[in-house]
Amino acid sequence: MKIFADTAIIKEIEEVSKWGIISGVTTNPSLIAKSGITLEEAIKKIVDLVDGPISAEVAEADAESMVKEAKVYAVMHKNIVIKIPMTIEGIKAVKILSRLGIKTNVTLVFTPSQALMAASAGATYVSPFLGRLDDLTKTDDAGFKLLKDIKELFVNYGFKTQIIAASIRHLEHVNQSIRAKADIATIPYNVLKKMVEHELTEKGLEIFREAAKK
Ligand code: E4P
Repeated sequence: MKIFADTAIIKEIEEVSKWGIISGVTTNPSLIAKSGITLEEAIKKIVDLVDGPISAEVAEADAESMVKEAKVYAVMHKNIVIKIPMTIEGIKAVKILSRLGIKTNVTLVFTPSQALMAASAGATYVSPFLGRLDDLTKTDDAGFKLLKDIKELFVNYGFKTQIIAASIRHLEHVNQSIRAKADIATIPYNVLKKMVEHELTEKGLEIFREAAKK
């Protein structure tokens, strides 16, 4: 499973890109607002830090305007992927963009039928949201079940669309993404840091360092 950074904060991307394990970046309007810079400014900086798919989300609501906006971001760099919301207008835009050879990431996916619509329109990626679905259903595995269903759907029918597990809040969501065989998990900075930690790793390291001194 590939690891994407789910952030638009340049300092965070600078740091995690140095770890050598980040294959792409996803942003959304909330993350851009949090970063304190514009989407265009963020794109310009992120493409220099990570050589992989970088999702930039459209703000427009109708298909024609989405396509127009998408073209502005797409010409900025070859790695730009246009993030499109899961609406009828969004699906129309995905179809047009896929014909133009522009990559898309359909976001805010919460059901297998939404994933089917996106894949049928030619989406490069779909982003099922684990955390938000778990919040809504007050469970800890609704997102996991959704991921498994979408994976089965794509395998059974031979769709090439890749699954990006999104809205990841904690390590168990990462584990669930692995178990459901998601192609990619897009992970916020705080969870990325936790992925290298374990209390026994720290304890073991202390013991080994003490032994090495002797
Ligand atoms: C990424 O593509 C999504 O926009 C992001 O993971 C959403 O995360 P949130 O539900 O924590 O806002």
